[in-house]
Amino acid sequence: MEDIIDEILRLKKERKAIVLAHLYQPQEIQEIADYTGDSFGLSRQAAGTDAEVIVFCGVKFMAETANILAPDKITLLPAADATCRMFTDSLTGEVAQLRKEKPDAVFVAYVNTPAAVKAMADICCTSSNAAAVVASIPEDKEIVFLPDGNLGSFAEEQTGRRMTCWKGGCPTHMGLTKEELAAAKAKYPGAPVLMHPECRPEVRAMADYVGSTTGIIKYAEKSDASDFIIATEEGVLYELETRCPGKHFHLAARHLLCPNMKKTTLEKVRDALKTLEPRVVVPQDVREKSVAALEKMLAITGK
Ligand code: 13P
Ligand code: SF4
Repeated sequence: MEDIIDEILRLKKERKAIVLAHLYQPQEIQEIADYTGDSFGLSRQAAGTDAEVIVFCGVKFMAETANILAPDKITLLPAADATCRMFTDSLTGEVAQLRKEKPDAVFVAYVNTPAAVKAMADICCTSSNAAAVVASIPEDKEIVFLPDGNLGSFAEEQTGRRMTCWKGGCPTHMGLTKEELAAAKAKYPGAPVLMHPECRPEVRAMADYVGSTTGIIKYAEKSDASDFIIATEEGVLYELETRCPGKHFHLAARHLLCPNMKKTTLEKVRDALKTLEPRVVVPQDVREKSVAALEKMLAITGK
């Protein structure tokens, strides 16, 4: 009998589909993906693919980004209920209100936002290019950065710009405390701490390197160290261990896990390829407004 992986590989070919998986996805999903990456890398793949169907293994805002950048493709989100806990539905209305209050400000939206918020933004950013995006904005402009206040403060530190930063944040990364990190450092003395900028500023101050998922992987590849403390979502360990044989990666705290990222299963991927459901379709008016903010970002940091 055909096993589930063979079935997925066959359906992928029949459907002319590409499977994109975020590096926080479960290992078995990363293994069957055509491309794994961080949110910036996945946006670039979606924008450039000639596949007819994009199976997006990640959370909803990422699949929406794929659909905005590749509207002529079918975008499937096998885990239809996988959302990002950084924002709630009320964000869209709150941003609309702030736009009215600050008509001259430049609004920078982290890609971790619903499509409707991207549609109100002037430019998007990801964790790998937030500083470059902020630095591209003329000095005399007021900047509103949303929704992640921690990434916003990291971009402030890197660029020296002051911004109005939204108070949102990622519960997974913000859960990491100074005490937990201190305990990990005591357990693995000398091991560099590699951290995602969604962590709190006081915890970030204890890191040796702060960067996006891809940045963390590149740092580990180049470093001569043999042990590393990883302060981001645990799914990244799979790629780190694959790319850096012989090196050891220790998660800074066991709770660094995004429950929504773990909702994708092989069965859901197979069923999505079979039925071409569940789809993510961004309404045309929202797409037209949000594509400009995404393309501006891609123009700054490369397609
Ligand atoms: P990356 O931009 O590093 O992919 O991170 C996305 C994300 O959801 C972080 O929590
Ligand atoms: Fe959202 Fe945090 Fe999960 Fe990333 S890790 S998808 S920011 S909740």
